[in-house]
Amino acid sequence: MTAPVADPRLKGRAVKRIALDEQQIRRRVRELGREISAAYPEGELLVLGLLKGSFIFLADLVREIERPLHVDFLVASSYGDAMVSSGNVRLVYDPETTLEGKHILLVEDIVDSGRTLQKLVTLLGERKPKSLEICALLDKKIATELHHPVKFIGFDAPHEFLVGYGLDHAEDFRHVPYVASLQ
Ligand code: IMP
Ligand code: MG
Repeated sequence: MTAPVADPRLKGRAVKRIALDEQQIRRRVRELGREISAAYPEGELLVLGLLKGSFIFLADLVREIERPLHVDFLVASSYGDAMVSSGNVRLVYDPETTLEGKHILLVEDIVDSGRTLQKLVTLLGERKPKSLEICALLDKKIATELHHPVKFIGFDAPHEFLVGYGLDHAEDFRHVPYVASLQ
């Protein structure tokens, strides 16, 4: 697929290609919603979005889940080396609701090394949820650091730097409605 001729959202940056267009995303998110609805027949479901990357995906996803649920967010901060996730994760914003006895669905934009998620799964697991699963829009399938299966995956991601639909490059491009790889 060719890149759009001129998208004013892209600040003049050329996109190498559109990895996922809006229609593909919409279709897959609808399917994911159905999978998730079927996977949780009973009990309280808390959908926990990892900010900021998951905000658009989560907003679309929860509207496709046809069962009662609550929504909250997590803000995790990894410190140490600023360029690579160091694995030292702390919560900058901690969900206000109790996790004990609830089905927790952790929603992430993209799984890369899996370091961030591994730390979060360990941290949240200590709060005695009834279940703890991960839903990621994209998975690069190189998450050697994650020792917990990603139960719900939107798409396998190409090994390129992706932006749009919540994913950023230095905070730019989160609002781009498709997923593109940067030139
Ligand atoms: P991990 O801890 O190495 O799995 O890193 C996951 C986080 O890195 C994601 O939540 C994103 O914020 C960021 N990230 C990884 N790959 C990409 C990408 O291709 N584009 C934008 N952000 C990415
Ligand atoms: Mg990011």
